Amino acid sequence: MDQKIIQIHDKKFEPFIKFAEIDKAVAKIADRMNEDLHDKKPLFLAILNGSFMFASDLFHKIDFPCEITFVKLASYSGTKSTETVRQLIGIDEDIVGRNVVIIEDIIDSGLTMERVLAQLKMIGAADIKIATLLFKPNSFKGKYPIDYVGLEIGDDFIVGYGLDYDKHGRNFKDIYKIVES
Ligand code: IMP
Ligand code: MG
Repeated sequence: MDQKIIQIHDKKFEPFIKFAEIDKAVAKIADRMNEDLHDKKPLFLAILNGSFMFASDLFHKIDFPCEITFVKLASYSGTKSTETVRQLIGIDEDIVGRNVVIIEDIIDSGLTMERVLAQLKMIGAADIKIATLLFKPNSFKGKYPIDYVGLEIGDDFIVGYGLDYDKHGRNFKDIYKIVES
């Protein structure tokens, strides 16, 4: 068994979710989308930076006409969620009247997504669906439904497959979780 501990800055992380399991979860979401959304010509809206790997792998598996665009905001510094959430930047497509599918790497407290939803509604998206690779149900405080969830996990802080700890660790193919010291 590969039990390689990795070090990022001051923290240690242990193997948590192998790429094979991630890939299965992504395929499951894609299968459901290929059923649900094949005639909706949706606009996928990936939230940078964390979701870039998930968005790419998911998009490979989508087999109907669609578009993708990338937007940015940030809610995290270090390992604790902060109350400051920046505005969505980079929406250049006209999303008025569009079926939008938000692609997020992880939903933790749900605050980030709440702000994204509010902004997309304000701009005038017709229908908004949410897809997240990872979901922390114990931390979630949102009142909105999450349409596509890849994997539910505990509250531990994780890195890899696009997710970072202070900008590092996004390049790992597998997901690692923090070792509390
Ligand atoms: P929320 O607003 O609390 O739902 O946090 C969502 C954002 O925080 C995600 O888009 C991630 O960028 C970041 N985040 C939440 N949990 C983790 C984690 O365990 N590792 C890395 N980033 C995380
Ligand atoms: Mg994110």
